[in-house]
Amino acid sequence: MKFDFTGKVVIVVGGTSGINRGIAEHFAATGAKVAVASRSQEKVDDTVASLKQKGAADVMGFVCDVRNPDEVEEGLAKVHQAWGDFDSLVSGAAGNFPALASKMSANAFRTVVDIDLMGTYHVMRSAYPFMKRPGSSVINISAPQAYLPYEAQSHVCAAKAGVDMLTRTTAMEWGSEGIRVNSVVPGAIDGTEGMKRLAPTEPIRQMILEDTPMQRFGTPADVANLCLFLNSELATFISGQIIAVDGALYQRGSGTFNRKLAEPLYKM
Ligand code: HXC
Ligand code: NAP
Repeated sequence: MKFDFTGKVVIVVGGTSGINRGIAEHFAATGAKVAVASRSQEKVDDTVASLKQKGAADVMGFVCDVRNPDEVEEGLAKVHQAWGDFDSLVSGAAGNFPALASKMSANAFRTVVDIDLMGTYHVMRSAYPFMKRPGSSVINISAPQAYLPYEAQSHVCAAKAGVDMLTRTTAMEWGSEGIRVNSVVPGAIDGTEGMKRLAPTEPIRQMILEDTPMQRFGTPADVANLCLFLNSELATFISGQIIAVDGALYQRGSGTFNRKLAEPLYKM
């Protein structure tokens, strides 16, 4: 099935690697104008070049740290000045490392909350005046950690649960203006930074496969396809939802792979 977003304005914050870059590339291939943002100028430049090749109608990129509301606002304002109102906003910047609640520093915990939760808030708040109304869509990239407890992930679980509640509350506050807000929850997506950090060994990878009823890892394309659907004419009454693309991982609960990841941390 082919989607056509010719000329639509799509912003992907944290869109310069992994899953989010896959999302940006899929939108580019539908003829959208795509803007990406992250902290690294090099990653932004590299992504902008690839989006042009994929067929985007136009491409922009800007550097920002989502923890800094002024940088986020400035970057989004530039895109708005160039292209006008936003049809779609994808907010997916995140940070993750395995650490136990009792052993990480307060700054370590705060860092993840600042990137994932506060960052999502900054992105949404700054984009809000620029969203097309009616008829635009926000997608926050969440994680299974938002609703499943995982050892060594208290900071991520707390932050992503917050992201999902932001999704649900803003879906209510912005619904009457015709702005839809949903969370997309990737399962274990192979070849990504997240997997490198949370599934660093072959035995842990195998345990994740066992915990995933569909018995395979996901791909960035799996996640991107859901984002295309959510931004399409097929989804104009879907809002406030937390939608997983995870091969039924959620149905198994937390599973055991993270126990394996956390084991050495208890001994440290
Ligand atoms: C304990 C750690 C730590 C670790 C960092 N810290 N790594 N503590 N264990 N492994 C602590 C530091 O000591 C410091 O605290 C505080 O966290 C901030 O660290 P900095 O390095 O100064 O932060 P910063 O440079 O801002 O980098 C943020 C980061 C980094 C999150 C630490 O890893 C990053 O930029 N990550 C972005 C990419 C990423 O994580 N991608 C994966 C997303 S996957 P002190 O007290 O010393 O100052 C995902 C879900 C995956 O989100 C789900 C898969 C199934
Ligand atoms: P990734 O490649 O590390 O992507 C993270 C992106 O966010 C990068 O573009 C990064 O670029 C940017 N970023 C990080 N911190 C930032 C900050 N402070 N300000 C601005 N940009 C920032 O990770 P991924 O594994 O593909 O994960 C992508 C998303 O999917 C995340 O939201 C993650 O929680 C979610 N997720 C992933 C998995 C998985 O299997 N990988 C599973 C569930 C959920 P810079 O480094 O240039 O800033």
